[in-house]
Amino acid sequence: MSSGGSARGAREPSAPWAGSRIVLGVCGGIAAYKSVQLARDLTLLGAAVDVVLTGAARNFVAPLSFEGVTGRGALVDLFAVGGAALHISLGREADCICVAPATADYIARAASGRASDLLTTVTVAAGAPVVVAPAMNDRMFAHPRTRANLAALERRSGYHRVGPDTGLLAAGEGSGPGRLADTDDIVDAVGRVLGPGGALAGKKVLVTGGPTREPLDAVRYLGNRSSGKTGVALARAAWLRGAEVTLVTGPAAVPAPYGVEVVAVETAARMRDAVLAEIEDTDAAIFAAAVADYRPRTAKSGKLRRSEIGEEWTVALAANPDIAADAVARMKAGSVSVGFALETSDMVARAGEKLAAKGFDMIVANRAGEAGAGFEADTNRVTVLGRGMKARELPRASKFAVACDILDLVGSRLAARG
Ligand code: CTP
Repeated sequence: MSSGGSARGAREPSAPWAGSRIVLGVCGGIAAYKSVQLARDLTLLGAAVDVVLTGAARNFVAPLSFEGVTGRGALVDLFAVGGAALHISLGREADCICVAPATADYIARAASGRASDLLTTVTVAAGAPVVVAPAMNDRMFAHPRTRANLAALERRSGYHRVGPDTGLLAAGEGSGPGRLADTDDIVDAVGRVLGPGGALAGKKVLVTGGPTREPLDAVRYLGNRSSGKTGVALARAAWLRGAEVTLVTGPAAVPAPYGVEVVAVETAARMRDAVLAEIEDTDAAIFAAAVADYRPRTAKSGKLRRSEIGEEWTVALAANPDIAADAVARMKAGSVSVGFALETSDMVARAGEKLAAKGFDMIVANRAGEAGAGFEADTNRVTVLGRGMKARELPRASKFAVACDILDLVGSRLAARG
């Protein structure tokens, strides 16, 4: 199995899940219309997707819609002619069963082990992991029986729940928990199940990302142009490899990845506190944050007025702590640390100096000011240096693809350290 990608930013090659088989179960809820998009995204990633609809689902969406996006006939009937052993073969051949939307009725039947239609029969007969994405009215979701059924499913090994999200519900029912999770999040949950796992599975990974903001007063700050995209891509790539991931990030321009614990900070001091609170039992730490090296020595609690500042403003700055250097010194034996170096000249030499000075195992060097690389861009071109490792120049690729390569190198190092 190739590494996980998603509709969010496909990893090259464009069909990383080729060779995988997914059963997509669709139940009878209004969110079923989103399952067509989900089936399309899973298919575009290269998986063979067999859609199984419940009878109620057919009231909301037609089997032909799924056939149109998957290229495979959608299945409904447990007792169709020629389908005698279908429920067994589908379950046996699947690498993952994903049920989205999973209604209160499906969850109740699956929790009690019933096999009353093709989808529940496949679920009961399957050995593959099951990703369940509940979606229903908020009062149905809050019902004690639904909660108990969901809890029973989650206790079962191989079951993973995604969502539901909180937000606008169908038919003017207001807002509450019960919305189908974002389809990109469901794709990522499937990706984690299908993913390469390997040395990072179950490991604790910490990522720093984004800029820091150092306040001058209540409304102004010193900062930099970091978008936080690299930190988000690294955290997502680590989660898709089965790691338990904490992302400590300054204000980022992109949403946090699914499944990752996010600690949102503004200043370098807060970032340091958050990192040091986690670092001692971390297996791999990747320091991608663009930390402000200096902060204003004093910050006014209100807004500084122009009449107070005058025609010139001289600000005294104090050095910020070096978060990565402090953290690496506290990491446990056998762990792996990765720094980033953003350089405008002598990239490899300067990155090599930082590798040694901060005690990193590896450092990812990238050039500032190069088109399609560095701050704000969606792609990056980096060179990875490491102790006892030949410098490796990676081709320009999406930040997610670069993150996948970095995580694979981290995984190899962790594996080598046992
Ligand atoms: N870093 C950090 N805390 C700081 C400064 C940097 O954790 N106060 C980390 C960055 O996240 C990165 C590495 O150290 O992993 C190198 O950061 P970089 O900004 O390239 O280097 P600096 O140490 O700031 O040195 P210089 O500004 O001289 O290039």
